[in-house]
Amino acid sequence: MTLRVRFYPDVHRGIREYLNKFMHGEILNIKNEALAQIMDAKDASELENLRVLYLGRQGKLNSLIKELKKLKTEDRKQIGTALNDAKNAIQDALTAQKQNIAAEYANKKEWFDLTIPGKSPVIGNLHAQTKVLSEILNIFTYLGYQVADGPDIETDYYNFEALNFPKDHPARDAQQTMFFDTSETNTKLGTYVPRTHTSAMQGRVMEKAKPPFRVVVPGRCFRYEQVDSAHGVEFWQVEGFMVDKNIRFTDLLGTIDYVLKSLFGQNTKIRFACTYFPFVEPGLDAYIECTVCKGKGCSFCKKTGWSEIMPAGMIHPNVLKKSGINPDEWNGFAFAIGLSRVVTLKYKIDDLRILHTPVARMLRQF
Ligand code: DAH
Repeated sequence: MTLRVRFYPDVHRGIREYLNKFMHGEILNIKNEALAQIMDAKDASELENLRVLYLGRQGKLNSLIKELKKLKTEDRKQIGTALNDAKNAIQDALTAQKQNIAAEYANKKEWFDLTIPGKSPVIGNLHAQTKVLSEILNIFTYLGYQVADGPDIETDYYNFEALNFPKDHPARDAQQTMFFDTSETNTKLGTYVPRTHTSAMQGRVMEKAKPPFRVVVPGRCFRYEQVDSAHGVEFWQVEGFMVDKNIRFTDLLGTIDYVLKSLFGQNTKIRFACTYFPFVEPGLDAYIECTVCKGKGCSFCKKTGWSEIMPAGMIHPNVLKKSGINPDEWNGFAFAIGLSRVVTLKYKIDDLRILHTPVARMLRQF
């Protein structure tokens, strides 16, 4: 039997066709895969990675190009053209997507510009009044005083009666009390008042504490005032009082002198004058030379050159008696410091209202 070789050309043709088809399919796959990935790319570096993957020297298309030499000339032409088309399509897609990404960034509202200088965080600071208050409390705790706190809304008893202001006594007028409207309640007008002074804590402490004691009470007070550069309807006081045995008037003068010089400096000029408060006998007013005008006279010190800063006196025996302390055995002195006044004098602020401004820029300078 002779071996017929007539099938060989067919076999070759089959292999060629197969190879041809295979190469075409492969090119198409690579192209489609590349275009899909390029369309999904989110940024320039992703695009660059894809370019290397498909068009780079070791890329997927190049590895097929290496196969070209295995093909017959006429096939090589066909496949070469297909490869070239795929390469152009991928290149075009890369360029188009690059432009898309750039346009998208440009349109984005939250475009982030790295070159804009950052915002430095605003750091707060203590209010001038807070600083001065802690300075005052430090001075008194050094002198052995305890700090007490009381209610902003007081009863008539503690605000007046316990301090030897009988009902209808004219000294009550000087307190310029504000009253709550009680018309729609069962409470009698004036039973409770926004406290007019922190002296109201004298009765509360004296009822409870056993002498001897030394106490300071910082707190907010309220008065019916015409608001101006030196007055406000709301202000802060630091009340202080001590009860002990054989306390003398000079102990009070020495305490005031020590406190004011600690606050305003050792060379501070201090002046005392007699005055009247129903809960002290005798009563006095301590003044310091006005720090705003250095004693020349300005609107802040009402052209007197002096600022009233610390009213005081020896505790009236009636006050001790009302709280159950025997005035024949115990005595003492009391004083008040106008906190807001100290702040304005210390920082030479010629208008109290600045302390109530919410403007941080203003407050940060103290
Ligand atoms: N409480 C008084 C007032 O605000 C001030 C005062 C005067 C307090 C004399 C005192 C004092 O303790 O002894 O009008």
